[in-house]
Amino acid sequence: MVGFAEKYGPWAMVTGASAGLGVAFSRSLAKRGLNLVLTARREDRLENLARELETEHGIEVVPIPLDLCAPAAVDALAAKTTDREFGLVVANAGFGWAGPFLDQPAEKLREMVKLNCEIPALMAHTFLPGMVSRGRGGFMVIASTAGHVATPWMAGYGATKAFDLHLGEALAVELKSKGIDVLAVCPGSTESEFHELANVKVSAFSGFHASAEALAEGALKVLGRKPSWIHGLANRSSLFFTKHLPRRMATWITGKALSGHYRS
Ligand SMILES: NC(=O)c1ccc[n+]([C@@H]2O[C@H](COP(=O)([O-])OP(=O)(O)OC[C@H]3O[C@@H](n4cnc5c(N)ncnc54)[C@H](OP(=O)(O)O)[C@@H]3O)[C@@H](O)[C@H]2O)c1
Repeated sequence: MVGFAEKYGPWAMVTGASAGLGVAFSRSLAKRGLNLVLTARREDRLENLARELETEHGIEVVPIPLDLCAPAAVDALAAKTTDREFGLVVANAGFGWAGPFLDQPAEKLREMVKLNCEIPALMAHTFLPGMVSRGRGGFMVIASTAGHVATPWMAGYGATKAFDLHLGEALAVELKSKGIDVLAVCPGSTESEFHELANVKVSAFSGFHASAEALAEGALKVLGRKPSWIHGLANRSSLFFTKHLPRRMATWITGKALSGHYRS
């Protein structure tokens, strides 16, 4: 049987590696012996994580501080990494926003759509051809349970995650015959800086957070086995229930659940 590093190495790239899920994915991949390119804006955090993983796992880690919302950011990332052979890309960087749609500042909305949708699509378009030419590799896009049903009071964010979910599921079909595994990962509420930055009330999901480590480990185990994956039995059950309702009713129930979960 081909090992994880043989199939998805020698290099993996993780976007959003300075916090939350990105840190957890980086640790899980380092444990599996992959060399890593880590990117996000906060350079000090990337540097610290890189040194930690190199010392603990004897791998090579290259931190690339970068704002993915800057013009031509994916081209810049590709130009800085031309000498690396990527077998896996984790398009994880993203952020959300909770509250009435019309209250989200237009500039933040533009940034969110860019980071959550345009960037994962361009990452796939830029880094998958090399893997296709070698006949092996993987691509993971971090979608969300919020991508499975329309999300009033997180309208824009949920729509970006539906994009990620559809992108991942469609690419999984297109690229299967080329030896590439694509997975759209759908976390529910998970420990990270997400809620604070997304304007979500701290109390709203406290006690319901999954651990980022469990999410990353679970996703890496599922890679290659299905096109999309919902983390956790509770999330799977509630979405199963929701999907069997008329869409209008599912949206109404979700809106009820999310109303009042944002800071006003
Ligand atoms: N946590 C949850 O409950 C949850 C649930 C479902 C889906 N998700 C998804 O999981 C992914 C990871 O989020 P998280 O929960 O780990 O949130 P997080 O703790 O806030 O981490 C977000 C990461 O994205 C990076 N980032 C943000 N803006 C960026 C930019 N302009 N350029 C480059 N990097 C940028 C941040 O780094 P810098 O600030 O240093 O740039 C950080 O490393 C997101 O796509 C999110 O939608 C999270």
